[in-house]
Amino acid sequence: MADLSSKAQVAKRLEGKVALITGAAQGIGACMAREFVHHGAKVVCVDINQELGRSVCDDLGTENASFLYCDVTKESDIENAINHTINKHGKLDIMINNAAVGDERKPSILDNDLCDFERVMRVNLSGVFLGIKHAARVMIPARSGGIINLGSISGSIGGITSHAYTSSKHAVVGLTRNAAAELGKHGIRVNCLSSHVVLTPLSQNFFNFGEEGQSRVYTNLEGMVLKPEDLANAAVYLASDEARFMSGHNLMLDGGFTVTNPAFGLFSRF
Ligand SMILES: NC(=O)c1ccc[n+]([C@@H]2O[C@H](COP(=O)([O-])OP(=O)(O)OC[C@H]3O[C@@H](n4cnc5c(N)ncnc54)[C@H](O)[C@@H]3O)[C@@H](O)[C@H]2O)c1
Repeated sequence: MADLSSKAQVAKRLEGKVALITGAAQGIGACMAREFVHHGAKVVCVDINQELGRSVCDDLGTENASFLYCDVTKESDIENAINHTINKHGKLDIMINNAAVGDERKPSILDNDLCDFERVMRVNLSGVFLGIKHAARVMIPARSGGIINLGSISGSIGGITSHAYTSSKHAVVGLTRNAAAELGKHGIRVNCLSSHVVLTPLSQNFFNFGEEGQSRVYTNLEGMVLKPEDLANAAVYLASDEARFMSGHNLMLDGGFTVTNPAFGLFSRF
């Protein structure tokens, strides 16, 4: 009997679609770019890291992926990235606002500087705002499109990461809902994709995992480790026609982490 789980036999769920992914030079964004191409999409990868971004696209083949320098905090860069996508492919079906930065690990608010707070907000929130705005500019006349904003468990609960990062991710959920409310009348879906910790340069810098990676981080789903591929698979779903009625949603890949408190109750573990 045929092995239906084999990757080669999975139907191409994004055939004919064009996606722009910010922060695609490494980590989750690069993994999404690979998965989208695997599912038949053409991708435009943008990032401030040109060397890594180009190498991701070289691996994917120039017919499938192209790289463009874009700092998501600069409106002219985002505008240019969207225009490049339209010039190259004639349309933009999916916009993934994935680029983000973390903070230094400073447990006291007294040590937090305003300029650091604003630096994180500029990339993680203003960058997403600009991405939505300019994607909408070309999606509204097309009367279709899907926008996916990367959130986090820090968009739903406090105490995991810095004040700036937590604030930015909560705000991304609000921005997603507002944009979904406005853009629905144009047939545009806007969703958030949030997750527990995934081992990437961003999380490694903040949490400084040891040799075991994030495997010792508490999760509700014992023994399971979240991978960039899990987020890429969820993004494929949100980008595909299978999710055609899903908008304003915060799809949470946290294994139940944000819906239970293991410290107290019938199922308490500590
Ligand atoms: N890794 C995790 O544990 C985790 C958990 C939940 C949510 N997320 C979210 O997933 C997304 C991807 O995170 P990651 O872990 O892959 O991070 P990462 O640091 O590995 O990758 C982020 C990418 O964004 C790029 N970038 C940074 N500033 C930019 C700017 N101004 N303009 C354009 N590109 C810029 C970086 O160069 C990098 O390539 C982020 O939105 C992050 O908040 C990550």
